[in-house]
Amino acid sequence: MRILTVCAEYAPLAKVGGLGDVTTGLCGWLARRGHEVLVVLPFYGEMRERGVAIEAHAALGPRPAPGSAPASYAVHRLAGQAGAGRGPEIFLVDAPAFFGGGVYASGTAEALRFMLLSRAALEFAASAGFRPDIVHCHDWHAAPAAVMLKGPLRAERAFRQSYAALTIHNIGYQGVFPAGLLEQADAASLQPLFAPEDLAQGDINFLRAGIANADVLTTVSPTHAQEIQTAEYGMGLDGLLRQRRHRLAGILNGVDYAHWDPATDPLLPAHYSARDLVGKQTCRRALAAELGLDLQPGVPVVGLVSRLAQQKGIDIVIHALPALLAARRFCCAILGSGEQGYVAALRDLAASHPGRVAFVEAQDEGLAHRVYAGSDLFLVPSLYEPCGLTQMYAMRYGAVPVVRRTGGLADTVTHFDPATGQGTGSVFLDADVGGLGWGLNAALDWHASPSDWARVVANGMARDWSWEHQGPRYEELFARLVNGGAMPSSS
Ligand code: ADP
Ligand code: GLC
Repeated sequence: MRILTVCAEYAPLAKVGGLGDVTTGLCGWLARRGHEVLVVLPFYGEMRERGVAIEAHAALGPRPAPGSAPASYAVHRLAGQAGAGRGPEIFLVDAPAFFGGGVYASGTAEALRFMLLSRAALEFAASAGFRPDIVHCHDWHAAPAAVMLKGPLRAERAFRQSYAALTIHNIGYQGVFPAGLLEQADAASLQPLFAPEDLAQGDINFLRAGIANADVLTTVSPTHAQEIQTAEYGMGLDGLLRQRRHRLAGILNGVDYAHWDPATDPLLPAHYSARDLVGKQTCRRALAAELGLDLQPGVPVVGLVSRLAQQKGIDIVIHALPALLAARRFCCAILGSGEQGYVAALRDLAASHPGRVAFVEAQDEGLAHRVYAGSDLFLVPSLYEPCGLTQMYAMRYGAVPVVRRTGGLADTVTHFDPATGQGTGSVFLDADVGGLGWGLNAALDWHASPSDWARVVANGMARDWSWEHQGPRYEELFARLVNGGAMPSSS
Protein backbone atom coordinates (compact mmCIF):
# COMPACT_ATOMS: atom_id res chain seq x y z
CA MET A 1 0.00 0.00 0.00
CA ARG A 2 1.00 3.61 -0.49
CA ILE A 3 0.39 5.47 2.77
CA LEU A 4 0.59 9.23 3.19
CA THR A 5 0.91 10.13 6.89
CA VAL A 6 0.07 13.67 7.97
CA CYS A 7 1.01 14.61 11.52
CA ALA A 8 2.12 17.42 13.85
CA GLU A 9 4.65 15.30 15.77
CA TYR A 10 7.25 12.75 14.65
CA ALA A 11 9.91 11.73 17.21
CA PRO A 12 12.65 12.65 17.69
CA LEU A 13 12.29 15.50 15.18
CA ALA A 14 9.22 17.00 16.82
CA LYS A 15 7.85 15.50 20.02
CA VAL A 16 5.67 16.89 22.78
CA GLY A 17 3.96 13.70 23.92
CA GLY A 18 3.13 10.17 22.84
CA LEU A 19 1.83 11.22 19.41
CA GLY A 20 5.42 11.67 18.22
CA ASP A 21 6.48 8.23 19.46
CA VAL A 22 3.50 6.57 17.83
CA THR A 23 3.74 8.15 14.36
CA THR A 24 7.43 7.22 14.21
CA GLY A 25 6.91 3.68 15.47
CA LEU A 26 3.96 2.91 13.23
CA CYS A 27 5.43 4.46 10.06
CA GLY A 28 8.72 2.65 10.65
CA TRP A 29 6.94 -0.67 11.05
CA LEU A 30 4.74 -0.15 7.98
CA ALA A 31 7.79 0.74 5.87
CA ARG A 32 9.67 -2.34 7.13
CA ARG A 33 6.69 -4.40 6.01
CA GLY A 34 7.25 -3.10 2.50
CA HIS A 35 4.57 -0.42 2.30
CA GLU A 36 5.51 2.88 0.72
CA VAL A 37 5.17 5.42 3.50
CA LEU A 38 5.49 9.14 2.99
CA VAL A 39 5.35 11.32 6.11
CA VAL A 40 4.63 15.04 5.99
CA LEU A 41 5.01 17.30 9.02
CA PRO A 42 5.84 20.99 9.51
CA PHE A 43 9.39 22.33 9.50
CA TYR A 44 8.97 24.12 12.82
CA GLY A 45 11.17 27.15 13.53
CA GLU A 46 12.53 25.31 16.53
CA MET A 47 13.74 22.44 14.26
CA ARG A 48 15.49 24.93 12.00
CA GLU A 49 17.21 26.49 15.06
CA ARG A 50 18.33 23.03 16.18
CA GLY A 51 19.99 22.56 12.79
CA VAL A 52 17.74 19.82 11.40
CA ALA A 53 19.18 19.35 7.90
CA ILE A 54 17.05 19.39 4.78
CA GLU A 55 17.57 18.69 1.10
CA ALA A 56 15.73 20.94 -1.31
CA HIS A 57 13.22 18.81 -3.12
CA ALA A 58 13.12 19.29 -6.84
CA ALA A 59 9.51 18.24 -7.26
CA LEU A 60 8.06 21.24 -5.53
CA GLY A 61 9.16 24.83 -5.27
CA PRO A 62 7.46 27.58 -3.28
CA ARG A 63 3.69 27.42 -3.66
CA PRO A 64 0.99 29.89 -2.78
CA ALA A 65 -0.33 29.29 0.71
CA PRO A 66 -4.04 28.62 1.27
CA GLY A 67 -6.23 31.65 1.17
CA SER A 68 -5.14 34.95 -0.22
CA ALA A 69 -2.21 35.55 2.13
CA PRO A 70 0.98 36.35 0.25
CA ALA A 71 3.00 33.68 2.14
CA SER A 72 4.40 30.76 0.22
CA TYR A 73 5.67 27.38 1.24
CA ALA A 74 8.06 24.75 0.06
CA VAL A 75 8.37 21.07 0.90
CA HIS A 76 11.84 19.73 1.71
CA ARG A 77 13.11 16.21 2.20
CA LEU A 78 14.71 15.53 5.57
CA ALA A 79 18.44 15.05 4.89
CA GLY A 80 20.33 11.90 5.73
CA GLN A 81 17.54 9.37 5.22
CA ALA A 82 18.22 5.94 3.80
CA GLY A 83 17.25 5.61 0.13
CA ALA A 84 13.62 5.25 -0.90
CA GLY A 85 12.16 1.88 0.03
CA ARG A 86 14.38 1.53 3.14
CA GLY A 87 12.10 3.36 5.56
CA PRO A 88 9.42 6.02 5.62
CA GLU A 89 10.36 9.07 3.56
CA ILE A 90 10.03 12.22 5.62
CA PHE A 91 9.14 15.60 4.17
CA LEU A 92 8.91 18.93 5.95
CA VAL A 93 6.62 21.80 5.05
CA ASP A 94 8.61 25.00 5.16
CA ALA A 95 6.61 28.19 5.70
CA PRO A 96 8.29 30.35 8.37
CA ALA A 97 5.30 32.69 8.59
CA PHE A 98 3.16 29.75 9.75
CA PHE A 99 5.51 27.40 11.57
CA GLY A 100 7.64 29.66 13.76
CA GLY A 101 8.45 28.41 17.26
CA GLY A 102 7.65 24.93 18.56
CA VAL A 103 5.09 22.29 17.66
CA TYR A 104 2.01 24.06 18.98
CA ALA A 105 0.95 27.69 18.81
CA SER A 106 -2.26 29.26 20.07
CA GLY A 107 -5.33 31.04 18.78
CA THR A 108 -6.08 31.35 15.09
CA ALA A 109 -2.40 30.84 14.22
CA GLU A 110 -3.00 27.18 15.13
CA ALA A 111 -5.90 26.88 12.70
CA LEU A 112 -3.88 28.38 9.88
CA ARG A 113 -0.72 26.38 10.52
CA PHE A 114 -2.45 23.01 10.54
CA MET A 115 -4.73 23.92 7.69
CA LEU A 116 -1.57 24.60 5.70
CA LEU A 117 -0.04 21.31 6.81
CA SER A 118 -2.95 19.30 5.36
CA ARG A 119 -3.10 21.30 2.18
CA ALA A 120 0.65 21.11 1.61
CA ALA A 121 0.79 17.36 2.32
CA LEU A 122 -1.88 16.60 -0.26
CA GLU A 123 -0.58 19.02 -2.90
CA PHE A 124 2.92 17.69 -2.41
CA ALA A 125 1.82 14.07 -2.80
CA ALA A 126 -0.08 14.93 -5.96
CA SER A 127 2.78 16.88 -7.50
CA ALA A 128 5.31 14.17 -6.60
CA GLY A 129 3.17 11.56 -8.35
CA PHE A 130 2.50 9.72 -5.06
CA ARG A 131 -1.05 8.40 -5.26
CA PRO A 132 -1.88 7.26 -1.77
CA ASP A 133 -4.15 4.31 -1.05
CA ILE A 134 -4.46 5.62 2.50
CA VAL A 135 -4.10 9.15 3.82
CA HIS A 136 -3.48 8.60 7.52
CA CYS A 137 -4.40 11.74 9.48
CA HIS A 138 -3.35 12.02 13.11
CA ASP A 139 -5.47 14.09 15.50
CA TRP A 140 -7.21 17.37 14.73
CA HIS A 141 -4.02 18.82 13.25
CA ALA A 142 -4.36 16.62 10.20
CA ALA A 143 -8.14 16.26 10.15
CA PRO A 144 -8.53 18.86 7.37
CA ALA A 145 -6.76 16.43 5.02
CA ALA A 146 -9.57 13.91 5.57
CA VAL A 147 -12.13 16.62 4.83
CA MET A 148 -10.34 17.86 1.71
CA LEU A 149 -10.20 14.36 0.28
CA LYS A 150 -13.99 14.14 0.47
CA GLY A 151 -14.56 17.71 -0.69
CA PRO A 152 -12.32 20.10 -2.59
CA LEU A 153 -9.82 17.46 -3.75
CA ARG A 154 -12.21 14.61 -4.50
CA ALA A 155 -11.82 14.98 -8.25
CA GLU A 156 -7.99 15.15 -8.21
CA ARG A 157 -6.51 12.27 -10.16
CA ALA A 158 -3.95 11.53 -7.43
CA PHE A 159 -6.70 10.83 -4.87
CA ARG A 160 -9.32 8.92 -6.83
CA GLN A 161 -8.33 5.70 -5.11
CA SER A 162 -7.51 7.25 -1.73
CA TYR A 163 -9.17 6.51 1.59
CA ALA A 164 -8.87 8.78 4.62
CA ALA A 165 -8.10 7.21 8.01
CA LEU A 166 -8.26 9.49 11.05
CA THR A 167 -6.63 8.38 14.28
CA ILE A 168 -7.87 10.16 17.40
CA HIS A 169 -5.00 10.26 19.87
CA ASN A 170 -6.53 12.85 22.14
CA ILE A 171 -10.18 13.85 21.95
CA GLY A 172 -9.53 16.56 24.54
CA TYR A 173 -7.88 18.65 21.84
CA GLN A 174 -10.31 19.26 18.97
CA GLY A 175 -9.07 22.37 17.19
CA VAL A 176 -12.06 24.60 17.95
CA PHE A 177 -12.07 28.14 16.59
CA PRO A 178 -14.70 30.86 16.26
CA ALA A 179 -16.53 30.60 12.95
CA GLY A 180 -15.66 34.27 12.39
CA LEU A 181 -12.17 33.01 11.57
CA LEU A 182 -13.50 32.10 8.15
CA GLU A 183 -14.13 35.74 7.38
CA GLN A 184 -10.43 36.55 7.67
CA ALA A 185 -8.68 36.67 4.31
CA ASP A 186 -6.07 34.06 5.28
CA ALA A 187 -8.72 31.57 6.21
CA ALA A 188 -10.98 31.85 3.19
CA SER A 189 -9.94 28.43 1.94
CA LEU A 190 -11.14 26.83 5.19
CA GLN A 191 -14.73 27.62 4.22
CA PRO A 192 -15.46 24.59 2.05
CA LEU A 193 -14.22 22.29 4.79
CA PHE A 194 -17.08 22.96 7.12
CA ALA A 195 -20.66 21.91 6.59
CA PRO A 196 -23.39 24.53 7.16
CA GLU A 197 -24.54 22.65 10.27
CA ASP A 198 -21.01 22.90 11.71
CA LEU A 199 -20.95 26.65 11.15
CA ALA A 200 -24.43 27.06 12.60
CA GLN A 201 -23.00 25.90 15.93
CA GLY A 202 -20.98 29.10 16.16
CA ASP A 203 -17.56 27.57 15.98
CA ILE A 204 -15.53 25.43 13.67
CA ASN A 205 -14.19 22.20 15.00
CA PHE A 206 -11.45 20.49 12.99
CA LEU A 207 -11.75 17.15 14.74
CA ARG A 208 -15.52 17.03 14.37
CA ALA A 209 -15.18 17.75 10.64
CA GLY A 210 -12.56 15.01 10.33
CA ILE A 211 -14.71 12.48 12.20
CA ALA A 212 -17.68 13.27 9.97
CA ASN A 213 -15.66 12.79 6.78
CA ALA A 214 -12.96 10.15 7.28
CA ASP A 215 -13.55 6.71 5.76
CA VAL A 216 -12.30 5.04 8.89
CA LEU A 217 -11.71 6.24 12.44
CA THR A 218 -9.41 4.76 15.01
CA THR A 219 -8.43 5.62 18.52
CA VAL A 220 -5.52 4.23 20.45
CA SER A 221 -7.04 1.55 22.69
CA PRO A 222 -10.12 -0.68 22.59
CA THR A 223 -11.46 0.63 25.91
CA HIS A 224 -11.13 4.24 24.77
CA ALA A 225 -12.99 3.41 21.54
CA GLN A 226 -15.95 2.54 23.77
CA GLU A 227 -15.42 5.43 26.18
CA ILE A 228 -15.50 8.17 23.52
CA GLN A 229 -18.99 7.06 22.55
CA THR A 230 -20.23 8.10 26.01
CA ALA A 231 -21.11 11.57 27.28
CA GLU A 232 -18.55 11.17 30.09
CA TYR A 233 -15.55 10.79 27.76
CA GLY A 234 -16.80 11.96 24.34
CA MET A 235 -16.12 15.66 25.01
CA GLY A 236 -19.17 16.62 23.01
CA LEU A 237 -18.38 14.36 20.05
CA ASP A 238 -19.93 11.19 21.48
CA GLY A 239 -23.15 11.54 19.46
CA LEU A 240 -21.28 11.78 16.17
CA LEU A 241 -19.00 8.92 17.20
CA ARG A 242 -22.00 6.74 18.05
CA GLN A 243 -23.41 7.46 14.61
CA ARG A 244 -20.11 6.44 13.02
CA ARG A 245 -19.33 3.56 15.39
CA HIS A 246 -19.29 0.99 12.59
CA ARG A 247 -16.33 2.88 11.14
CA LEU A 248 -14.51 3.20 14.50
CA ALA A 249 -11.85 0.79 15.79
CA GLY A 250 -9.67 0.86 18.91
CA ILE A 251 -6.09 -0.22 18.24
CA LEU A 252 -3.65 -0.18 21.11
CA ASN A 253 -0.44 1.75 20.49
CA GLY A 254 2.77 -0.16 20.02
CA VAL A 255 6.13 0.49 21.63
CA ASP A 256 9.39 0.78 19.76
CA TYR A 257 11.34 -1.80 21.76
CA ALA A 258 14.55 -1.15 19.84
CA HIS A 259 14.52 2.35 21.30
CA TRP A 260 13.01 1.48 24.69
CA ASP A 261 15.20 -1.38 25.93
CA PRO A 262 16.96 -1.20 29.32
CA ALA A 263 19.52 -3.74 28.08
CA THR A 264 20.86 -1.37 25.41
CA ASP A 265 19.42 2.12 26.07
CA PRO A 266 22.34 4.54 25.54
CA LEU A 267 20.65 7.13 27.76
CA LEU A 268 21.02 4.97 30.91
CA PRO A 269 23.99 4.88 33.30
CA ALA A 270 23.80 1.06 33.52
CA HIS A 271 22.03 -1.72 31.66
CA TYR A 272 19.85 -4.58 32.84
CA SER A 273 17.23 -7.07 31.76
CA ALA A 274 14.53 -9.21 33.35
CA ARG A 275 17.15 -11.95 33.92
CA ASP A 276 19.72 -9.66 35.52
CA LEU A 277 18.41 -6.64 37.39
CA VAL A 278 21.68 -5.58 39.03
CA GLY A 279 22.02 -2.60 36.68
CA LYS A 280 18.64 -1.31 37.79
CA GLN A 281 20.04 -0.72 41.27
CA THR A 282 22.80 1.39 39.70
CA CYS A 283 20.16 3.35 37.78
CA ARG A 284 18.20 3.91 40.99
CA ARG A 285 21.21 5.25 42.85
CA ALA A 286 22.31 7.38 39.91
CA LEU A 287 18.84 8.93 39.61
CA ALA A 288 18.71 9.67 43.33
CA ALA A 289 22.15 11.32 43.14
CA GLU A 290 21.21 13.31 40.04
CA LEU A 291 18.01 14.63 41.61
CA GLY A 292 19.27 15.05 45.19
CA LEU A 293 17.06 12.37 46.71
CA ASP A 294 18.16 10.92 50.05
CA LEU A 295 17.65 7.29 49.09
CA GLN A 296 17.99 4.83 51.98
CA PRO A 297 18.50 1.12 51.20
CA GLY A 298 15.23 -0.68 50.54
CA VAL A 299 13.23 2.51 50.07
CA PRO A 300 11.36 2.57 46.75
CA VAL A 301 11.50 5.40 44.20
CA VAL A 302 8.12 6.43 42.79
CA GLY A 303 8.46 8.00 39.33
CA LEU A 304 6.23 10.28 37.27
CA VAL A 305 6.94 11.57 33.74
CA SER A 306 4.15 13.61 32.28
CA ARG A 307 2.83 16.57 30.41
CA LEU A 308 1.50 18.76 33.21
CA ALA A 309 -2.12 18.98 32.09
CA GLN A 310 -5.42 18.35 33.81
CA GLN A 311 -5.88 15.11 31.82
CA LYS A 312 -2.95 13.54 33.66
CA GLY A 313 -4.46 13.72 37.16
CA ILE A 314 -1.69 16.00 38.44
CA ASP A 315 -4.13 17.61 40.90
CA ILE A 316 -4.65 14.22 42.51
CA VAL A 317 -0.91 13.69 42.86
CA ILE A 318 -0.42 17.11 44.43
CA HIS A 319 -3.22 16.56 46.94
CA ALA A 320 -2.52 12.91 47.73
CA LEU A 321 1.25 12.90 48.18
CA PRO A 322 1.69 14.87 51.43
CA ALA A 323 -0.32 12.39 53.55
CA LEU A 324 1.19 9.38 51.76
CA LEU A 325 4.72 10.71 52.28
CA ALA A 326 3.96 11.18 55.97
CA ALA A 327 2.61 7.64 56.30
CA ARG A 328 4.97 5.54 54.17
CA ARG A 329 8.64 5.33 53.22
CA PHE A 330 9.30 6.25 49.57
CA CYS A 331 10.93 8.94 47.46
CA CYS A 332 9.45 10.67 44.41
CA ALA A 333 11.12 11.58 41.12
CA ILE A 334 8.88 13.83 39.03
CA LEU A 335 9.66 15.11 35.53
CA GLY A 336 7.13 17.27 33.75
CA SER A 337 6.43 20.35 31.75
CA GLY A 338 3.25 22.22 30.97
CA GLU A 339 0.77 24.34 32.90
CA GLN A 340 2.41 26.83 35.23
CA GLY A 341 -0.07 26.24 38.08
CA TYR A 342 1.07 22.61 38.29
CA VAL A 343 4.71 23.63 38.01
CA ALA A 344 4.33 25.96 41.00
CA ALA A 345 2.46 23.36 43.09
CA LEU A 346 5.01 20.65 42.33
CA ARG A 347 7.86 23.02 43.20
CA ASP A 348 6.17 23.67 46.57
CA LEU A 349 5.71 19.96 47.14
CA ALA A 350 9.40 19.32 46.46
CA ALA A 351 10.48 22.29 48.60
CA SER A 352 8.46 21.06 51.56
CA HIS A 353 9.87 17.50 51.26
CA PRO A 354 13.62 17.98 50.73
CA GLY A 355 15.42 14.74 49.92
CA ARG A 356 12.14 12.92 49.42
CA VAL A 357 10.46 14.65 46.49
CA ALA A 358 12.40 15.92 43.48
CA PHE A 359 10.70 17.83 40.69
CA VAL A 360 12.36 18.80 37.42
CA GLU A 361 10.47 21.12 35.13
CA ALA A 362 11.79 20.22 31.70
CA GLN A 363 11.13 18.40 28.49
CA ASP A 364 14.11 16.07 28.71
CA GLU A 365 14.16 12.77 26.83
CA GLY A 366 17.32 11.53 28.56
CA LEU A 367 16.02 12.25 32.06
CA ALA A 368 12.69 10.61 31.15
CA HIS A 369 14.55 7.37 30.33
CA ARG A 370 16.56 7.64 33.56
CA VAL A 371 13.36 8.11 35.59
CA TYR A 372 11.76 4.98 34.09
CA ALA A 373 14.96 3.01 34.81
CA GLY A 374 15.58 4.47 38.26
CA SER A 375 12.02 4.04 39.56
CA ASP A 376 10.49 1.09 41.37
CA LEU A 377 6.91 2.33 41.03
CA PHE A 378 5.45 4.66 38.44
CA LEU A 379 2.32 6.83 38.75
CA VAL A 380 -0.25 7.36 35.97
CA PRO A 381 -3.43 8.63 37.69
CA SER A 382 -5.02 10.07 34.51
CA LEU A 383 -8.59 11.34 34.38
CA TYR A 384 -8.70 9.96 30.85
CA GLU A 385 -5.97 8.24 28.88
CA PRO A 386 -6.58 7.26 25.26
CA CYS A 387 -3.67 4.82 25.41
CA GLY A 388 -0.74 6.06 27.45
CA LEU A 389 2.81 5.02 26.70
CA THR A 390 4.48 5.86 29.99
CA GLN A 391 2.97 2.88 31.82
CA MET A 392 4.26 0.60 29.05
CA TYR A 393 7.74 2.13 29.19
CA ALA A 394 7.67 1.81 32.99
CA MET A 395 6.84 -1.91 32.82
CA ARG A 396 9.54 -2.47 30.22
CA TYR A 397 12.03 -0.79 32.57
CA GLY A 398 10.94 -2.81 35.60
CA ALA A 399 8.95 -0.04 37.33
CA VAL A 400 5.53 -1.20 38.54
CA PRO A 401 2.78 1.12 37.29
CA VAL A 402 0.08 2.50 39.59
CA VAL A 403 -2.67 3.54 37.20
CA ARG A 404 -6.27 4.61 37.11
CA ARG A 405 -8.58 2.16 35.34
CA THR A 406 -9.38 4.12 32.21
CA GLY A 407 -8.67 3.91 28.46
CA GLY A 408 -5.41 2.30 27.49
CA LEU A 409 -4.32 2.09 31.13
CA ALA A 410 -7.16 -0.38 31.70
CA ASP A 411 -6.09 -2.33 28.60
CA THR A 412 -2.40 -2.59 29.46
CA VAL A 413 -2.15 -2.97 33.24
CA THR A 414 -3.81 -5.70 35.28
CA HIS A 415 -4.05 -5.51 39.07
CA PHE A 416 -1.54 -7.79 40.74
CA ASP A 417 -2.82 -10.56 42.99
CA PRO A 418 -0.15 -11.90 45.39
CA ALA A 419 -2.20 -15.09 45.86
CA THR A 420 -1.96 -16.11 42.21
CA GLY A 421 1.14 -14.14 41.22
CA GLN A 422 -0.78 -12.74 38.24
CA GLY A 423 -0.89 -9.06 37.28
CA THR A 424 1.45 -6.29 36.24
CA GLY A 425 0.64 -3.28 38.42
CA SER A 426 -1.79 -1.56 40.74
CA VAL A 427 -5.08 -0.45 39.17
CA PHE A 428 -7.43 1.89 41.02
CA LEU A 429 -10.83 3.16 40.00
CA ASP A 430 -11.59 6.50 41.61
CA ALA A 431 -9.95 9.63 40.21
CA ASP A 432 -9.35 11.15 43.63
CA VAL A 433 -7.01 11.21 46.59
CA GLY A 434 -8.59 8.05 48.04
CA GLY A 435 -8.22 6.15 44.78
CA LEU A 436 -4.57 7.03 44.26
CA GLY A 437 -3.82 6.37 47.93
CA TRP A 438 -5.38 2.92 47.70
CA GLY A 439 -3.41 2.11 44.54
CA LEU A 440 -0.07 3.34 45.86
CA ASN A 441 -0.50 1.72 49.27
CA ALA A 442 -1.27 -1.65 47.65
CA ALA A 443 1.91 -1.42 45.56
CA LEU A 444 4.01 -0.34 48.56
CA ASP A 445 2.68 -3.38 50.46
CA TRP A 446 3.79 -5.70 47.63
CA HIS A 447 7.18 -3.96 47.63
CA ALA A 448 7.63 -4.97 51.26
CA SER A 449 7.56 -8.65 50.19
CA PRO A 450 10.63 -9.40 48.00
CA SER A 451 9.05 -12.44 46.36
CA ASP A 452 5.80 -10.64 45.48
CA TRP A 453 7.81 -7.73 44.17
CA ALA A 454 10.08 -9.87 42.00
CA ARG A 455 6.98 -11.44 40.51
CA VAL A 456 5.07 -8.28 39.65
CA VAL A 457 8.20 -6.68 38.17
CA ALA A 458 8.89 -9.79 36.06
CA ASN A 459 5.28 -9.95 34.87
CA GLY A 460 5.46 -6.36 33.61
CA MET A 461 8.83 -6.79 31.93
CA ALA A 462 7.54 -9.85 30.08
CA ARG A 463 4.63 -8.06 28.40
CA ASP A 464 4.99 -7.40 24.68
CA TRP A 465 3.44 -4.34 23.06
CA SER A 466 5.92 -4.09 20.23
CA TRP A 467 4.85 -2.77 16.84
CA GLU A 468 5.36 -6.31 15.55
CA HIS A 469 2.30 -7.08 17.63
CA GLN A 470 0.21 -3.93 17.11
CA GLY A 471 1.22 -2.85 13.59
CA PRO A 472 -0.67 -5.70 11.85
CA ARG A 473 -3.94 -4.28 13.24
CA TYR A 474 -3.44 -1.11 11.21
CA GLU A 475 -2.27 -3.08 8.21
CA GLU A 476 -5.38 -5.25 8.34
CA LEU A 477 -7.64 -2.22 8.72
CA PHE A 478 -6.05 -0.37 5.81
CA ALA A 479 -6.08 -3.46 3.60
CA ARG A 480 -9.77 -4.02 4.28
CA LEU A 481 -10.52 -0.42 3.44
CA VAL A 482 -8.65 -0.63 0.17
CA ASN A 483 -10.29 -3.94 -0.68
CA GLY A 484 -13.76 -2.76 0.32
CA GLY A 485 -14.09 -5.19 3.25
CA ALA A 486 -15.80 -4.85 6.64
CA MET A 487 -14.19 -3.25 9.69
CA PRO A 488 -12.19 -5.58 11.92
CA SER A 489 -13.05 -5.59 15.62
CA SER A 490 -11.07 -3.57 18.17
CA SER A 491 -7.77 -4.96 19.39
P1 ADP B 1 0.60 11.97 26.14
O1 ADP B 1 0.81 11.75 24.68
O2 ADP B 1 -0.83 12.21 26.50
O3 ADP B 1 1.49 13.01 26.70
P2 ADP B 1 1.74 9.29 26.49
O4 ADP B 1 1.85 8.47 27.72
O5 ADP B 1 1.16 8.65 25.30
O6 ADP B 1 0.97 10.62 26.90
O7 ADP B 1 3.18 9.76 26.00
C1 ADP B 1 3.98 10.62 26.72
C2 ADP B 1 5.35 10.64 26.07
O8 ADP B 1 5.98 11.88 26.35
C3 ADP B 1 6.29 9.57 26.59
O9 ADP B 1 7.25 9.27 25.59
C4 ADP B 1 6.95 10.29 27.77
O10 ADP B 1 8.19 9.70 28.13
C5 ADP B 1 7.12 11.65 27.19
N1 ADP B 1 7.17 12.75 28.15
C6 ADP B 1 6.15 13.31 28.84
N2 ADP B 1 6.60 14.33 29.58
C7 ADP B 1 7.92 14.43 29.35
C8 ADP B 1 8.97 15.32 29.81
N3 ADP B 1 8.71 16.31 30.65
N4 ADP B 1 10.23 15.11 29.36
C9 ADP B 1 10.48 14.11 28.49
N5 ADP B 1 9.57 13.26 28.02
C10 ADP B 1 8.31 13.43 28.43
C1 GLC C 1 -2.29 11.14 23.32
C2 GLC C 1 -2.89 10.49 24.51
C3 GLC C 1 -2.12 9.28 24.96
C4 GLC C 1 -1.64 8.45 23.80
C5 GLC C 1 -0.87 9.31 22.83
C6 GLC C 1 -0.36 8.54 21.62
O1 GLC C 1 -1.78 12.38 23.45
O2 GLC C 1 -3.09 11.37 25.58
O3 GLC C 1 -2.93 8.50 25.81
O4 GLC C 1 -0.81 7.39 24.26
O5 GLC C 1 -1.69 10.34 22.35
O6 GLC C 1 -1.40 7.87 20.96
